Amino acid sequence: MTSTCLMNCHFIGSIYKASKTYLTTCIRRCSRLSTNGNPSMITIQGQTFQPDEMTTLTPNIIEKVGCNLHNQQNHPLCLIKQCITNFFYKQFTRLGNPLFSVYDNISPIVTVSANFDSVLTPPDHVSRRKGDNFYINKDYMLRAHTSAHQSELIKSGLDAFLVIGDVYRRDHIDASHYPVFHQMEGVQLYSNFQLFGEKSNKTSLFEDGERTVEKQQFHTMIAAKSLEHQLKTTLEGCIQELFGSGLEIKWVDAEFPFTHPSWELEIKFQGEWLEVLGCGIMEQEIISSAINGQKIGYAFGLGLERLAMILFDIPHIKLFWTEDERFLNQFKAKDICSIKFQPYSKYPPLLMDISYWCPPNYEANDFHDLVRNIGGDLVEAVELIDEFVHPKTNVISRCNRITYRSMDRTLTKEEASQIHWKIAAAAEHLLKVDIRKK
Ligand code: DAH
Repeated sequence: MTSTCLMNCHFIGSIYKASKTYLTTCIRRCSRLSTNGNPSMITIQGQTFQPDEMTTLTPNIIEKVGCNLHNQQNHPLCLIKQCITNFFYKQFTRLGNPLFSVYDNISPIVTVSANFDSVLTPPDHVSRRKGDNFYINKDYMLRAHTSAHQSELIKSGLDAFLVIGDVYRRDHIDASHYPVFHQMEGVQLYSNFQLFGEKSNKTSLFEDGERTVEKQQFHTMIAAKSLEHQLKTTLEGCIQELFGSGLEIKWVDAEFPFTHPSWELEIKFQGEWLEVLGCGIMEQEIISSAINGQKIGYAFGLGLERLAMILFDIPHIKLFWTEDERFLNQFKAKDICSIKFQPYSKYPPLLMDISYWCPPNYEANDFHDLVRNIGGDLVEAVELIDEFVHPKTNVISRCNRITYRSMDRTLTKEEASQIHWKIAAAAEHLLKVDIRKK
């Protein structure tokens, strides 16, 4: 992940205090979760964990584990998944069989080491922040990206695979951010012969050279450039398969700990450039620590929600989680390119503000998690509309505007106010903010 991190940003914030107390309080208050008879334990999908000072997981997030929207027939995320995997099946074959293995059911519970160390993320890298991740405890977390599985799958002997799965990041709330979203990871490794064919007796993949902006020290220029060409034409083909030709796209240089060089692909959508994938030439260290063979490879990570929102005209990310037939029935068409989502919610939003003084070490993502825990999918957005520091006390004041809206009925003022009051009370009690006005 970069600091702009694909599809969800990394916030600058301070340490998530008293998380263990927060988690257990939440579990006790509002969850149907099994705590295995022991409120200090966390049970996810039958696995039990001991929370500790790193814990940031909340009950409403635990409920999402196992939903696997990307495996639900006719769900827009499943349609996108199928369309992309079919493209790779068609594009790459060996003796008439698909080359890529597809994994869409790997558990999102991973070790912190798999999520970060296995893809060379330095110990102090911004993407490890407690404020941005759902840590189960200091050793386990919900994966923040599908790159967490690259190394283990290469070790298992695969050299071309796709991993599709739910990923989890603590973030702000708006139309394109949700704490759970879906990614597709792709990896393809090449031997000299696989990359250069007949010419391979005259080429070489490796040299003892210098690391430059264009290549790693271990790779020959010709190998790096051929792989880059292969990667970019494959991904352009994939995007064209989804959106047809005539789409404006551009490649932008990027940085990821696990690839070098790295790029992002942006698509022009409704006049704006949107980043839809990150990719690059895999750091040789990841490959050589997993296999003995002389191979180089590329990797990429696609954000499925963003692609689906663009392709089907879906205006808000929370719609992916609805069980409303008026949403789901719209994705039953045979030809997915003909589907355009027709919004059915004409129900009006209700806006309510909440202002408060922040305690020291206040972290914005704690507030967002709390709002989500209490308001669920009735919360459409949380915006920061005002922030200032008291000139005498130096205490920070923030004012958040919360947008409440239901997709299937008109929300009454009373209902929204009740949620709003609960949020204010919980913020006072759990986050120790001092409410000024709600
Ligand atoms: N893991 C990155 C993220 O979530 C996306 C990504 C970028 C995956 C580059 C890759 C890659 O495999 O090569 O932000």
